[in-house]
Amino acid sequence: MSTPSEALPTAPPAALREIDDLPHPAGLPWLGNTLQIDKPHVHQQVEGWARRYGDFFTISIGGHRLLVIADHKAMGAVLRDRPEGFRRTPRFASIAREIGLGAGVFGAEGEVWKRQRRMVMAGFDPRHLRAYFPSLVRVCDRLEGRWKRAAASGQTIDLQADLMRFTVDAISGLAFGAEVNTLESDDDIIQRHLDKIFPAMFRRLFAPFATWRWYRTRADRELDASVVKVNAAIDGFVAAARQRLEADPARRAAPANLLEAMIVAADDPGSGITEGEVSGNVMTMLLAGEDTTANTLAWAIWLLFTHPESLAKARAEIDAVAGDPSTWTHERFAEMHWLEACANETMRLKPVAPSLTLQCLRDTTVADIRVPAGTLVFLALRSDSLLEEYFARAKQFDPQRWLQPDNGPNASSANRVSMPFGAGPRVCPGRHLAMLEMKMALATLIGRFDIERVGTAAGSEPDERMSFAMGPAGLSMRLVPRRRPV
Ligand code: HEM
Repeated sequence: MSTPSEALPTAPPAALREIDDLPHPAGLPWLGNTLQIDKPHVHQQVEGWARRYGDFFTISIGGHRLLVIADHKAMGAVLRDRPEGFRRTPRFASIAREIGLGAGVFGAEGEVWKRQRRMVMAGFDPRHLRAYFPSLVRVCDRLEGRWKRAAASGQTIDLQADLMRFTVDAISGLAFGAEVNTLESDDDIIQRHLDKIFPAMFRRLFAPFATWRWYRTRADRELDASVVKVNAAIDGFVAAARQRLEADPARRAAPANLLEAMIVAADDPGSGITEGEVSGNVMTMLLAGEDTTANTLAWAIWLLFTHPESLAKARAEIDAVAGDPSTWTHERFAEMHWLEACANETMRLKPVAPSLTLQCLRDTTVADIRVPAGTLVFLALRSDSLLEEYFARAKQFDPQRWLQPDNGPNASSANRVSMPFGAGPRVCPGRHLAMLEMKMALATLIGRFDIERVGTAAGSEPDERMSFAMGPAGLSMRLVPRRRPV
């Protein structure tokens, strides 16, 4: 036993750094880096600064200083310290409110978030996903029909627009039990209105001045009109779901979709969930499930087209495991490890949420930095995923890195470096649905068609364009029916 005088010397606690001491890219007085920010490419710009200034530095936008974190371990710690330690930014919540979006789980905080998250997670129960599988197959069938018509007429497909129709139809069925059919309609479709909302939120989040409060541009007026239309559609979904529950009270014990589950929960006198929160979460699901999944799919299709060996392996797996769409099952899609690896690799290289901005709620430390309550924190989520330190040949598309040598799934630490769905208690609740949708859309495309071309008009690599979700700019696709059908 050692006496106190013999005790081993312990290392003195490492000195904490202050935010003021961190490096920062030079900016202008008061305006800081505001005018330097290239909004559509802000993620790449911040990643570039991280290479220059390290994993922790500050930037200043619109009079606010942000602590940028590019180290995945520190980002993971921040994401896990929610809802008590960090929140989404109040600016996000106020802009969403001002646009006319109801209060949903994405923007909620504290106890309200806990209540809503419980309700939403019940709706994403895997049993619901399994029950919903046949209607996802129907949506894939409509996607195939749309692409067959385009192939027959030699028409060039606007890839992202079609994929957004697919994701809106898919999420509407699961979440609301509504057969929204944007794939077979070119009318005043809900998706055209939804598409105005995210870009507007993104513009306003980064705007140095709230110009829309004193002068409404045409884009602002169009946005208002679109929000009115989408809210009216949501009121329709809620009314229809209420009618179904009234007509068949037994559904209350086993709600068939997320919306019915939310209404049942809201009707419980002790729930604390308001009618506004129900509608707010309908809107949240529509918005959170559309661009994210569609953009990831667009990137995946482009990456597979430009990597023919990976595409051939995907086709072989689709033929061997999924088979003809009339025989598709939920279980078979769970076995499609190569397609899942392709999706994981796509999201490592091209995450549609390459950054998240949060606000610190209490004085804390992140790594060796003292972070006072109120600090805004910009998480450069993709930064480490592109480094050789964590991924060999990091810039290359190599789905095999997500598999064991025997091609079984590889639940390695790669998941903790690449965080396309976020992490911690607020990790994306739609991730399993998104993965299933993506595998099914890829099986429809690769199993039924030969891809003649996917690319930009200029033939160059697509620009990574942030508009709330990061997507490829200007991708179009040409298809022909598969020459040797399954
Ligand atoms: C490839 C597709 C998708 C990607 C990459 C994605 C990514 C993300 C990310 C990065 C977050 C933030 C997580 C965090 O703060 O830690 C998030 C949150 C969320 N996502 Fe997704 N998402 C996808 C699809 C979906 C779908 C299909 C839905 C629902 C239909 C959905 C619903 C949500 C909701 C409700 C939240 C907020 C959760 C909360 O704050 O508690 N997402 N998603």
